[in-house]
Amino acid sequence: MSNKTVVQLLLLLIGVSLAFGMSKAGDLPADEFARRRAIFLNELRDLDACAIIHSAPYFERIIATESPYRQDSDFIYLTGWPFAEGILVITPNPADSEQVEVTMFVAERDPKMEIWTGPKAGLAEAAALEELDQAQPYDKFFDQLEKMISGYDRLVISYGNDAEFQMDLSEALKHSSRRPTLVQEAAALLRSYRLIKSETEIKALEKAIRITGESLVDAFKIIPRLGFEYEAQAEIEYGFKKRGVVRPGFPSIVGAGKNSTYLHYEDNRGALVAGDLLLMDVGAEWDFYSADISRTVPISGIFSPEQTLIYQLVLDAQLAGIESVKPGAAFREPHNLAVEVITTGLVDLGLLEGQVDTLISQKIYRKFFMHGTSHWLGLDVHDVGGYLAPDGQPHILKAGMVLTVEPGIYISEADDVDPRWWNIGVRIEDDVLVTTKGHRVLSAAIPKTIKDIETLMQPSNVKK
Ligand code: GLY
Ligand code: MN
Repeated sequence: MSNKTVVQLLLLLIGVSLAFGMSKAGDLPADEFARRRAIFLNELRDLDACAIIHSAPYFERIIATESPYRQDSDFIYLTGWPFAEGILVITPNPADSEQVEVTMFVAERDPKMEIWTGPKAGLAEAAALEELDQAQPYDKFFDQLEKMISGYDRLVISYGNDAEFQMDLSEALKHSSRRPTLVQEAAALLRSYRLIKSETEIKALEKAIRITGESLVDAFKIIPRLGFEYEAQAEIEYGFKKRGVVRPGFPSIVGAGKNSTYLHYEDNRGALVAGDLLLMDVGAEWDFYSADISRTVPISGIFSPEQTLIYQLVLDAQLAGIESVKPGAAFREPHNLAVEVITTGLVDLGLLEGQVDTLISQKIYRKFFMHGTSHWLGLDVHDVGGYLAPDGQPHILKAGMVLTVEPGIYISEADDVDPRWWNIGVRIEDDVLVTTKGHRVLSAAIPKTIKDIETLMQPSNVKK
């Protein structure tokens, strides 16, 4: 081999590893995906099923300009492959251990396109994935479909929300004489794995949460001198980006004054006025895992007397909810406790009238606290798992589950209360891991007491 050839080969190898490495943010180990595929494969084997799992579609926003691409969560869960045009096919075959069981169809590299896009991963990188029997070109999938799916009782599918693939596959299956009789969606199987997080997943969540917290604290320190909600949003999202985050896990909610009372306000165009509150519900995504943190601060740096009372009530409710998180507790337990604390507090403040029990049983507290307290958190900000277990009963918490605890009180101008309470919207949200002994608040480091927030925002801390 000439020196020139050796150099060319080395450059090719570096190119291959860069191409894959560059497109990832973070570093989930490859064996994590191999382990997940192995578990899934065993379940499929038991069901006499094969599986087809498709990647997310990409969208052209305007000619030759795509919308930012984000891989489908079920596909990334099983493959770690962040690129469009991928299909994972699992065909268990207990009779013949030499038989191909795991195939990835991926887009081949296109040197002409790479002039525009820079290097992408292709067949060679897919073939190098652990515990993968073969990589094939994406456009060969339908040629091989019939052969791959024949002989099974059941076909398990995830379309990755790709409507075109769904249509093409349905059409092909209609004409297939050897298709399995039962066809079911993969989501129902995968969500039971995704509900329980591994050590690696918890590390990714912790990193997303740490970055979210640091970016929020950066924002706290400049809010008193900002003029608009979008400036606070910019500071938070700049904090994400400068710490290596590819994108937020969901659109940032940054609402001041009356906008703090809209639950999923995303305009973020309003003015910041001293005396009002600013509610920020934000989350960085790391390695595809999303944080979800809400903090509410006074724009001036000091809570007014009414804001103090409402804020402390939400915080007490949140702490009571978090305290109840432990293995064996019902998923609704944090919500039930938060409702009790908030309803009792609102009666004490004269904002609700009547017996606490009645206000709860008749759901009258919903005038001011109109959402649930928790959702699952993971690859998706509202993560899979459902709120009823597969047996139809309420979920019982188990070690490895991660949920948010996020009560709130929202008082709008439409509410029939003394105007001094108007336009106070407070939500406090933390991300909580169920452990074998109880729980760990993954976002415990992010300030939330009145004293800690006011101290961070006092003039000597407010960054010029
Ligand atoms: N972070 C938005 C939500 O939990 O709905
Ligand atoms: Mn949330």
